[in-house]
Amino acid sequence: MGYQEMDRKIAEKMVELAIGQLAYSYAPYSGFKVGAALLAENGKFYTGCNIENAAYTPTNCAERTAFFKAVSEGERAFCAICIVGGKDGVLTGYTAPCGVCRQVMMEFCNPNTFQVILAVSKEKYKIFTLKELLPLGFGPENLV
Ligand code: THU
Repeated sequence: MGYQEMDRKIAEKMVELAIGQLAYSYAPYSGFKVGAALLAENGKFYTGCNIENAAYTPTNCAERTAFFKAVSEGERAFCAICIVGGKDGVLTGYTAPCGVCRQVMMEFCNPNTFQVILAVSKEKYKIFTLKELLPLGFGPENLV
């Protein structure tokens, strides 16, 4: 298996994990279900879904759920995240991370190398670096 093939296998696995999270999405207000799968540098996967709230602002996006689960278990180094989303959990287009989630990624990831996989299915996805999604981002390096 070549590198490209291995990367494709990992991306497909992440799409599968992210889609699996749609079943747990708690989105009674927007009806928009989101799932995420985060790959740590040690090879472990952390999943997340969006969790809404009657007061609206406490809502947590799927991406941040995955990051906070991982960081709360001691992870600090990450390679990639896969995101899927759609109204009522039906995947019709790409769901890009909100600004707050991009900023959380900026805290723990190298923007030049961290991969953000936006997926509709295992056959249909596209990959961006965090830097492409958050150019000129402000991160921990700015404070040293
Ligand atoms: N949402 C996510 O979980 N991730 C995104 O990347 C975009 C938005 C959630 C928040 C809210 O529960 C619903 O989608 C509608 O905004």
